[in-house]
Amino acid sequence: MRDITNDIEKVLFTEEQIQAKVAELGRQITTDYSDEDLIVVGILKGAGIFMSDLIRRIDGPVRIDYMMISSYGSSTVSTGIVRILKDLDYDIHGCSVLIVEDLVDTGYTLNYLQDYLYRRGAKDVRICTLLDKPARRQKTVTVDYLGFEAPDAFIVGYGIDYAEYYRNLPFIGVLKPEIIE
Ligand code: PRP
Repeated sequence: MRDITNDIEKVLFTEEQIQAKVAELGRQITTDYSDEDLIVVGILKGAGIFMSDLIRRIDGPVRIDYMMISSYGSSTVSTGIVRILKDLDYDIHGCSVLIVEDLVDTGYTLNYLQDYLYRRGAKDVRICTLLDKPARRQKTVTVDYLGFEAPDAFIVGYGIDYAEYYRNLPFIGVLKPEIIE
């Protein structure tokens, strides 16, 4: 197979930096939810890799669930229309929920999702995202647990894709401009 690391212009966050941050977030979440029955909800596909690492760094009785959301369709820019492709398996009425995302960009997805989970009866809905691009925000989102702030560049890796590729890179980097059509 072709080496996809050749398509990367610059590494933003190394595998070691990401894993250290994931461990730190896990410790903080473990402390903050010590008295809570927590449901951790990963948002597919992007957050799948972050989610699987993070939940192994939370030391306590948590349940996990996944949702699949699409706010982009086949486009690379947000349309503002959020569609639920896979909903929760659990009844979250009265529960504390932690949403796990790879990236907050315009904020459309999480703004909608947090509201949706409150409407489903959750008592508390917080947000954990590995990356945040605050420069791109159009909808208000309060991030409770943040990995790193990211520049307004085309980033891939550790779950984040370009045209569905590059999710399997263990680090996060900026794609070379010639790769982007
Ligand atoms: C990405 C990311 C968030 C969303 C953030 O998902 O995982 O869910 O976009 O963008 P926003 O703040 O502008 O709403 P995407 O729709 O690319 O799907 P994926 O997770 O399957 O890659």
